[in-house]
Amino acid sequence: MDKKGARYERIYKQLKELFKTSEHPLSRMASICAVLHHKMSGFFWTGFYLLEHGELKVGPYQGPLACMELQKGKGVCWAGVERAEPVVVPDVDAFPGHIACDSRSKSEIVVPVFDDKGMTVGVLDIDSSQLNTFDETDADWLAKIVRLIYE
Ligand code: SME
Repeated sequence: MDKKGARYERIYKQLKELFKTSEHPLSRMASICAVLHHKMSGFFWTGFYLLEHGELKVGPYQGPLACMELQKGKGVCWAGVERAEPVVVPDVDAFPGHIACDSRSKSEIVVPVFDDKGMTVGVLDIDSSQLNTFDETDADWLAKIVRLIYE
């Protein structure tokens, strides 16, 4: 396993242990943001957008102020909801419809979050201020981490 994978594995174990103390999905989401944002290098914005009444609204996050709601059917977060799988964007300027909440974001990953019935409840969205930050390792580990929310 490479260095990044090893770091994700430590974070995964830490969160799994921590979640024994609370089942609340929002508390778990907030904790995921805090740990990822402060332990992974280059995470500029780390947070959740929650699907409610067909709209994506900002949930727990760490980083600079972000958009409260995302225009339906547009951007990376909605693509994550529609595809129901992780979306890796090496260069946000090359993604049609990308919603720029902060012009310092250069690359991005979005990972859908499913509840215990398999319904999509929202997405984990991470922005980097560098190009090409995210790859399959991030997608695989982040999908595993968000599965802990409803476990
Ligand atoms: N870039 C996202 C919007 C959310 S911000 O990155 C925090 C999008 O295109 O959906």
